[in-house]
Amino acid sequence: MPVLKVIVVYESMYGNTKRVAETIVEGINEADGVDVSIVELKRVELNGIADYDAILIGSPNHFGGPTRGIKGFIDKLGKLQLNGKFFAFFDTYMGNDFEKAANKMEKQISSKIQKIKHPILSLSIKVQGIKGPIADGELYKCKEFGKQIAAHIKEGF
Ligand SMILES: Cc1cc2nc3c(=O)[nH]c(=O)nc-3n(C[C@H](O)[C@H](O)[C@H](O)COP(=O)(O)O)c2cc1C
Repeated sequence: MPVLKVIVVYESMYGNTKRVAETIVEGINEADGVDVSIVELKRVELNGIADYDAILIGSPNHFGGPTRGIKGFIDKLGKLQLNGKFFAFFDTYMGNDFEKAANKMEKQISSKIQKIKHPILSLSIKVQGIKGPIADGELYKCKEFGKQIAAHIKEGF
């Protein structure tokens, strides 16, 4: 089986979403045959995105949705040829906004790309204040999510 390529793109103001992204990567790395890259939004090269089998996008919840930067990034993805790719989304949130930003990202990508591989997985991680830290018991979910993603991608190819 060929090596499957995954990219994790995230934005993070205070480092919590970065930590979530890194822990997801740890989980993915436990699987054989999956090659994962992690890149901060401001360093991402749009032209290389179509080379990946799976695209994971993470954002802090800002005002009930993903950051402006992440929204702009997803808009740009809509102009690439990404039919048949696997997508997953993750967010960090503070209050009662569980999965709100992740769901909005999912809706946005679904409106832009016709043939996404389903299901689209998502993860929402609670932080204890605007600057964090990540709430107790949340981090283990990130690693499990990474493992789940790897298994899911391998199954789909
Ligand atoms: C400008 C701003 C707006 C925010 N709005 C919300 C919000 O509407 N709902 C929520 O649950 N958290 C909100 N937060 C809290 C963020 O979700 C929290 O800062 C974030 O998860 C921390 O992640 P980071 O360390 O990766 O930046 C907001 C934070 C900022 C800075």
